[in-house]
Amino acid sequence: MNPQPASWRLTYELARGQGVSMRKGDVAERNADANELYERSVALGALRTALDAARNGHGQLIFVCGEAGAGKSALLRRFAHDIDGTARLLWGDCDPLFTPSPLGPFLDIADQLAGEFGELVKKGARPPRLVHALMRELGAGSVDVVVIDDLQWADEASLDLLELVGRRIGRVPALVVGSFRDDEIGPAHPLRTVLGRLATAPVTRLSLAPLSRDTVALMAARYGVDEGLLFENTGGNPFFVTEALSCGADRVPPTVRDAVLAAAGDDRDHAFGRQPDGSRGTRRRGPGSPRPLSGLRCPGSGGGPHGPVQA
Ligand SMILES: Nc1ncnc2c1ncn2[C@@H]1O[C@H](COP(=O)(O)OP(=O)(O)O)[C@@H](O)[C@H]1O
Ligand SMILES: [Mg+2]
Repeated sequence: MNPQPASWRLTYELARGQGVSMRKGDVAERNADANELYERSVALGALRTALDAARNGHGQLIFVCGEAGAGKSALLRRFAHDIDGTARLLWGDCDPLFTPSPLGPFLDIADQLAGEFGELVKKGARPPRLVHALMRELGAGSVDVVVIDDLQWADEASLDLLELVGRRIGRVPALVVGSFRDDEIGPAHPLRTVLGRLATAPVTRLSLAPLSRDTVALMAARYGVDEGLLFENTGGNPFFVTEALSCGADRVPPTVRDAVLAAAGDDRDHAFGRQPDGSRGTRRRGPGSPRPLSGLRCPGSGGGPHGPVQA
């Protein structure tokens, strides 16, 4: 169970908004294995197997799902890196806009394609027309990998096109991978409808679970931080584990929000109750400082079971 989903997402978006996730270089400086993806070999293996099938003409659609920070984009970037040169990669992002552009992620993809599909997308053609052009495009080369990240934010035209592609994907040498936050799409979300309609298509779903206690302990040991505290405060969510570790040894933040504030820089001292001279003191709050949210914990930190990565 996710005890405080709204606070959790807010914290994650705050981190994103402040560019915290761009600070991974800090982690890399401290940890030679910073780019290592733990516990994702099954998911990567499933993606590789699907790509092999696509190469043999049996295209597939795979959905990678998990909560914010579960490591969906990191997994897809790693897969894209691993296949470099052996398949054509087309990547589209969905953005969290109040007014999402029609076909937003496919506009990204159109920029990566010179042919008819790209032209039609830019002209504003509708999904039933676009799907044929896209199928021709996907069938033309050796094998294509199409990634659409963050489908929970996709506009409806993109979802229509994805559904049309999903129904035809078995006939072309292409692997289409879409990611989404499965805890953010309620029963009325249009993506749910698409998932339901694709029930009979060649579709696989990979669920990314939080990192296990053993893995979090391994990561904690490299930084010399308390493994129990790190797991307790992050629930094994990879984003928060790495953010917490980026705060440095001995300073596991008490809440995920503190991890974010600390990683964002200005509030580092505030978040850890440190005085400007570096000593620990009473937690202080200056004018304009955010109010502390008591008891904020990551999903999963309440001890509920998490499903394994399914391939
Ligand atoms: N399997 C993993 N092992 C270690 N760190 C990970 C793993 N997956 C993700 N991370 C870290 O967590 C951060 C957030 O992952 P990201 O892929 O952006 O999450 P999502 O796309 O699911 O919101 C990444 O930048 C990476 O540093
Ligand atoms: Mg992502």
